[in-house]
Amino acid sequence: MAARFITFEGIDGSGKSTQSKRFAELLAQRGDDFILTREPGGSAGAEEIRKLVLTGETDRWSAETEILLFTAARRDHLEKTIAPALAAGTTVVCDRFADSTRVYQGATRGDLRSKVDALHTLMIGREPDLTFIIDMDPAVALARGLARGSGEDRFEDFGLGFQKTLRHGFLTLAKSFPKRCILIDGNRTPDQIASEIAAYA
Ligand code: ADP
Ligand code: TYD
Repeated sequence: MAARFITFEGIDGSGKSTQSKRFAELLAQRGDDFILTREPGGSAGAEEIRKLVLTGETDRWSAETEILLFTAARRDHLEKTIAPALAAGTTVVCDRFADSTRVYQGATRGDLRSKVDALHTLMIGREPDLTFIIDMDPAVALARGLARGSGEDRFEDFGLGFQKTLRHGFLTLAKSFPKRCILIDGNRTPDQIASEIAAYA
């Protein structure tokens, strides 16, 4: 069977990193060949870009500049990490991918979706085989995310209204890619969510 490319998406603090780790643990127990990676990041160059986009004032970068930075990071991640793993038959589990750019940059601060899509086609041209979109109450998710105190809160700092718009964006996205997107109710315990997702492992 061909190696699968599986992504986790959702608003900040929705539980993506918790659930992608749980999913990876399941694959490890089964003895599958896999890697767990994340965006922005997942390769040395992309981790450098991560520092630029996730720290500083909210107005540090325009949405247009962000599209370029996130896509540059993704291209490096794809070249150095994702594509070689898939070619070697290794399953790739990734915390965020192009859907995040579609929603965060494409539909939240001006209607930039067509620019996001054009750049994706030109420079990335790859969709995941399966995407879990963790949906949940934005106020709870925001409180969780900020409580972490990661110092990478530039997007959380846009506030609750922004997170509500993002949630709507992810719900719309799930409808437009129904074959690969599975909507997961994140307003439950980590165990309940993990056991639903485990059915797709
Ligand atoms: P994300 O990667 O989407 O930002 P995390 O997995 O880092 O989210 O979770 C954000 C915070 O919420 C963490 O402190 C985590 O331990 C906690 N958390 C994750 N999932 C749940 C859940 N289902 N219920 C309660 N807290 C959770
Ligand atoms: P992440 O570390 O997953 O943050 P969190 O744990 O809070 O969900 O992602 C970092 C931030 O970058 C997050 O706020 C979403 C944002 N982001 C974009 O705006 N566009 C993108 O293309 C990606 C991959 C992330």
